[in-house]
Amino acid sequence: MSEDSQAFERTTRLLDGAATEALGARIAAGLDVGDAVALEGDLGAGKTTLARAILRALGVTEEVPSPTFTLVQEYETPRLTVRHYDLYRIANAREMGELGLDDALDEGAALIEWPERAAGRLPAQTLHVALSITGPVSRDAKLSGPAKWAAHV
Ligand SMILES: Nc1ncnc2c1ncn2[C@@H]1O[C@H](COP(=O)(O)OP(=O)(O)OP(=O)(O)O)[C@@H](O)[C@H]1O
Ligand SMILES: [Mg+2]
Repeated sequence: MSEDSQAFERTTRLLDGAATEALGARIAAGLDVGDAVALEGDLGAGKTTLARAILRALGVTEEVPSPTFTLVQEYETPRLTVRHYDLYRIANAREMGELGLDDALDEGAALIEWPERAAGRLPAQTLHVALSITGPVSRDAKLSGPAKWAAHV
């Protein structure tokens, strides 16, 4: 079977925070061990907000801080382990290696803010979510990735 890593692409209008939360729940429902979700977009686009929605939908009840300074936070959810990365502050490729993305994907799923900083280390089968600000409470989410996601998001 040929595996086209960008087999589907769709832009979804998120008219308010509730719509972002609902998108998070749909992503959570499709998330399996080995899945990477790249959260792209400018400062304040809503990457952490969407990551939080995904984690909440997976059953995380503890606080979900932005991993701005820790770079990675790990969550045990009833269904799978999820690591939440924010790569904005990574210094270099070696530091990226130390963050254990390969292990994260062996053991669970990864949500990655500022994936551009990972410089080619993301798996080909990544779901890309590119958020852009369209108004005070609205966002556009451009989704692209492997075909499996078309059924979920
Ligand atoms: N529809 C929406 N979806 C997501 N966030 C929204 C929406 N409407 C308003 N917001 C607000 O936009 C802000 C998004 O902040 P958030 O920390 O999620 O951004 P970020 O992309 O993670 O930024 P950073 O690059 O600093 O990590 C929050 O204050 C959130 O309440
Ligand atoms: Mg953030």
